[in-house]
Amino acid sequence: MDPWTSDKIDDYGKLKKEFGIQDLNPETIPNPHHLIKRQIVFGHRDLNYITQAIKQNKPFAAMSGFVPTGQPHFGHKMVMDQLIWYQQQGGQIFAAIADMEARAARDLPLKQSYKSGKNYLTSLIALGLDPEKAYIYYQSQDYGVRNLAFEASNKMNYSELKSIYGFNNQTTLAHMYAAPIQSADILYPQTQKFGGPKPVVVPAGTDQDPHLRLVRDVSKRMRLFSTEKTNNHYKIRSRHATQKQINQLKQKLNKYGETKTYEEHIEIKTNNPEIPEITRQHEIQNNGYGFYPPSSTYHRFMTGLKGGKMSSSVEDSYIALTDNPQEAADKVMKAKTGGRETLKQQKKQGGEPEKCAIYELLYFHLIKNDKQIEETYKNCQQGERLCGKCKKETAQHIKQFLKTHQEKRKQAKEKLEKHLKQNHKPQEEYK
Ligand code: TRP
Ligand code: SF4
Repeated sequence: MDPWTSDKIDDYGKLKKEFGIQDLNPETIPNPHHLIKRQIVFGHRDLNYITQAIKQNKPFAAMSGFVPTGQPHFGHKMVMDQLIWYQQQGGQIFAAIADMEARAARDLPLKQSYKSGKNYLTSLIALGLDPEKAYIYYQSQDYGVRNLAFEASNKMNYSELKSIYGFNNQTTLAHMYAAPIQSADILYPQTQKFGGPKPVVVPAGTDQDPHLRLVRDVSKRMRLFSTEKTNNHYKIRSRHATQKQINQLKQKLNKYGETKTYEEHIEIKTNNPEIPEITRQHEIQNNGYGFYPPSSTYHRFMTGLKGGKMSSSVEDSYIALTDNPQEAADKVMKAKTGGRETLKQQKKQGGEPEKCAIYELLYFHLIKNDKQIEETYKNCQQGERLCGKCKKETAQHIKQFLKTHQEKRKQAKEKLEKHLKQNHKPQEEYK
């Protein structure tokens, strides 16, 4: 799957089976966001690291990156809403403007990304992110992340990138470099600059899964040690540790059980679940990264207003958060519904909310009250709710939402400018 071109992914079940994405059970999540409760966020990897951290009040982070081509729309809002929710659950939030990726994979000049990135960040803040408690950056301007990308790229090779992304002999080095830079985005929250290793979750669409599988692997390759549990034993292997570092770790582990040292690995006879953590701490003391493999969640894509793909490159397929509210309402009125050919038929057979772009807007974004959304679904399905009125209501709803959002954007813009002034300087020399 090529995350830069992949279309709508229909078969989520297959994805789960083939790539080992786990089902997300909303009941395991404390105080779940409505996107989680409604199983729009349907799958995950290692989310238990995060739920544990939330429950135990331990540090964790959530991060995402935005490629600022076009306008921020309701698809992006899904990711933004989740970041904001994680912030409210006590997480450190990281938001990157992926200007290097935009330059290399979408041909967008850095200078334009600087400007249009602000547009995305403004909506993120207007939707509720507190920028003072978040780390917001542009890839190209952040020495720390670029440095980490260099280290990550030292653990990747061409044949692997080729098989993951379909790169070929014509692919530019800069485009390939989007892979290590995104890995670095995701690992960055775990570096010493931000307090060291901690669980990090990336809320994403399934198109991002190739990146996530890669970064999980790379996070392991960048460690000094790996730990593996077998029956009654842990095997601790050195990846890059020196003999001295191995010996010292063995000394520390002695008190937890019988240890044996083989060439480049230690075996310890114990079931003590602390062993991986003790190993990580030893690694950190020895200037290693000690990364946790990043966690991720996957959400369903929104379909376009006209059916098919919702994309900034398909006109009228999406509503931007910056759209003129009346024009957005007009788009809603023209959207594809799950209604029947005739009124009579609809009253008899009922509508098909699961095929309806209007219903999707209500379900994903506009109706937060569970009872109300349930009733909407039922009434539609039973032919009591009719499309004309439903569209009008939704159009009004969207119009009001955008008016309020755009009002909030004014303040958010000031907050953002202040934040960027403190943390970033605009790069005048950019092309
Ligand atoms: N590749 C992502 C996209 O196409 C953008 C991105 C860059 C990103 N860095 C990231 C997403 C880190 C998640 C985490 O949208
Ligand atoms: Fe969609 Fe509303 Fe028509 Fe049902 S009644 S199909 S939800 S527009």
